[in-house]
Amino acid sequence: MTSGTDTATTASPSGARSRVVLGVGGGIAAYKACEVLRRLAESGHDVTVVPTSAALEFVGAPTWSALSGKPVSSSVWDAVHEVPHVRIGQEADLVVVAPTTADLLAKAAHGIADDLLTNTLLTARCPVVLVPAMHTEMWEHPATVANVATLRARGVLVVEPAVGRLTGKDSGKGRLPEPAEIVELARDVLARGGGPADLAGRHVLVSAGGTREYLDPVRYLGNRSSGLQGWALARAALARGARVTVVAANVALPDPAGADVVRVETTAQLREAVLAAAPQADAVVMAAAPADFRPAEVATAKIKKADDGSAPTVHLVQNPDVLAELSSSRVRPDAVVVGFAAETGDERGGVLDHARAKLARKGCDLLVVNDVSGGAVFGSPDNEAVILGADGRSVPVARGSKARVAHAIWDEVLRTER
Ligand code: CTP
Repeated sequence: MTSGTDTATTASPSGARSRVVLGVGGGIAAYKACEVLRRLAESGHDVTVVPTSAALEFVGAPTWSALSGKPVSSSVWDAVHEVPHVRIGQEADLVVVAPTTADLLAKAAHGIADDLLTNTLLTARCPVVLVPAMHTEMWEHPATVANVATLRARGVLVVEPAVGRLTGKDSGKGRLPEPAEIVELARDVLARGGGPADLAGRHVLVSAGGTREYLDPVRYLGNRSSGLQGWALARAALARGARVTVVAANVALPDPAGADVVRVETTAQLREAVLAAAPQADAVVMAAAPADFRPAEVATAKIKKADDGSAPTVHLVQNPDVLAELSSSRVRPDAVVVGFAAETGDERGGVLDHARAKLARKGCDLLVVNDVSGGAVFGSPDNEAVILGADGRSVPVARGSKARVAHAIWDEVLRTER
């Protein structure tokens, strides 16, 4: 997978005091935007809320004003001397609209400016993230589909809605993603400071988390993988415009905003889900920690303690190596395959010696190497890595957030020819 774009830019560590406009459309999910606002404000951003008049039917201006610490209006006719219909958009570092209704998508696609939010969308020159929420029928209507395509072609990041409970008794695609994940995506876009959506039009597959291998219905063998690096990879790819599928093994985090998430438990389930999604993917990043071994037999009932105090013997068998299988089968010869290696040095060689050997053994294109001698990487918000390429390249990634490491990985994926 190669790109003509200069991909040297990686995320800056923080978007502190960045000016964010939070647009709020008139959908029931407007109440969730209060949580988006609170999280943005608490993480140090200067947030101006611009609700539509329909949004104010759901959540009143005092709520937005109290949470943002600023006056709130939906009209171009308030504080006219400050020319808010132009100024708010011009001064913004990021505009996020959550929820974006079908009506707002239509207005934005056609340049209609009949209130403060739609004027702001026309004057903003910063990145714009639209987070739609609506009934499935409205999302799938050809008019909405065309509007979304127009906006994406113009470089607007239109987030895929989540699948789940909608208003009333309905459920389906159209739900607002979790506020915490909307904020993570917004922070990622801000940190890139308007960097190119260089993964637009690409579909990437990321595996995350650690698998569980059951001994009986209540006990399992597991590992310490939190899924944080996999989530950071998914968010970073979404912020760069990719379509993202995540195969998540036991990750206790809400779905990244805009990703298709397949939840699995065991290595066998992870293998099945990854192999099913891989033919559609331009890149596969195996950030998960699948267990190398599983019990030869899974007891159907809970294993009881023996009266004589003896402990049961557990026989293990080896699990299939999903990364090696992906690398050797090459269902998509042009897809870039990336593995992770958690290594420690020993008397037979250093971390990078073992990693080079693993890269050759697994047959992948890139290997992200973590030195886990101190056990520090698990569950930590930070990471430090070396990215090795099958072409001989070795790219050190200095200690930083997992988001930063994720962007460095996507940079290398884009530089990889297949
Ligand atoms: N991996 C996999 N399937 C497995 C085990 C691991 O796809 N059954 C992938 C992981 O997602 C990771 C890479 O392989 O991308 C490296 O895993 P690791 O456990 O470090 O490699 P091993 O082959 O198990 O090597 P070691 O003998 O060092 O444990």
